[in-house]
Amino acid sequence: MALAQRTSARVSPSRQYAPYIEAVWGLKNHWYPALFSNELGENQVKGVLIAGHEIALRRAKGKTYAMQNRCPHRGVKLSGKPMVLTDDLMTCWYHGFSFGLDDGVLKTIAGCPDDQNIGRVRIRTYPVQEVAGIIFVFVGDENYKPVPPLSSDLPLRITDDPNPVKHLLDPDVFVRGIHRTGKANWRLAVENGYDPGHLLIHWDSMMVNSQDRLIPIGVEPVREDAVRFIDEPDGPKGIMCMYNREGAWKPILENPLVKMKAKGKKPYYFRVSTVLPGLLQVEHWPIPGWSQLEWYIPTDDKHHEYWEVVVGPCRNEDERSAAESLYNGFFEPIGLRGFNDADLFARESMQKFYEDNAGWDEEVLCMFDNALVAWRKAVSRFNRGIQEAPRICEEP
Ligand code: FES
Ligand SMILES: [Fe+2]
Repeated sequence: MALAQRTSARVSPSRQYAPYIEAVWGLKNHWYPALFSNELGENQVKGVLIAGHEIALRRAKGKTYAMQNRCPHRGVKLSGKPMVLTDDLMTCWYHGFSFGLDDGVLKTIAGCPDDQNIGRVRIRTYPVQEVAGIIFVFVGDENYKPVPPLSSDLPLRITDDPNPVKHLLDPDVFVRGIHRTGKANWRLAVENGYDPGHLLIHWDSMMVNSQDRLIPIGVEPVREDAVRFIDEPDGPKGIMCMYNREGAWKPILENPLVKMKAKGKKPYYFRVSTVLPGLLQVEHWPIPGWSQLEWYIPTDDKHHEYWEVVVGPCRNEDERSAAESLYNGFFEPIGLRGFNDADLFARESMQKFYEDNAGWDEEVLCMFDNALVAWRKAVSRFNRGIQEAPRICEEP
């Protein structure tokens, strides 16, 4: 029986989180990473696409600016052929319209300085903050006020752990990572990131097999408190899978029907949380004391930018160089690429099923998917707006 027939008689299950289903282009009025700081050199201009917003980033005298990446004169992208003439203007390479970096106002036109549009036309600018080697841009409605603090869109600061993982805003922190484009809607990427039922796709990874940590075949939530909502006043909102809560989850160690057994022996807990606008924090992963962060940034309706970052302690130069070696030899090749390549493959494999939005009603969820439903409800409840489809958007 075809999927559509099988499900046609059911009440639409996705109705209980309708705003999430509408969020094809992502959530607006949130802070998103745009580039790593070292990807934008002095006087460089680079274009990024976030939730359908085409944004040009420019660094001038060390400061980073973000502005609309379409010239209002004839509609070309400013980043298409960057032209940098002064420290305070962004000049369009085609006919020389020049906009103030600070306010986006048309200050002059290179070959037409007496034109009446000067001082009257402007392009929009975006709030920018640069911390921990990452350039963040606040994306959404131009007049959204007040712009919330960046910390409200960063991971939950961990305080209920004797050895808490570091926070991005901590002073002595090591932060490194990569980002790459995934051919799947951002929601499929987020849900894959913390999916409690997806351990199978990592079964053959070197990360799992090179260590003796216990990896069950799966986990079943057995109590209501297996997943909790994160709702910090003026802070992050989202959900947390409470794998450290005794008896809340049942690890599945054996399933004779498929001839599978758990791997490894050493019990190893890593709590997983996801906060708006789509940011994962895995505590004590890839190794104890470190954490892995992943942003799944909507670019257009069918792609996301996949950010994978490790965060660890770094109090002095010796620790920094040890962390660099660990990152280059282990975290990036074995974790961020080897292990997480399987996640990228999985979410891209879901895209066709959900592309026309029917998949949200046709999917047949099982016990461990209650964490996915909790996330969908959290987004529906806590979002600061659902991004509309843009008029123009080139594929990333
Ligand atoms: S298109 Fe930009 S100045 Fe003409
Ligand atoms: Fe995964």
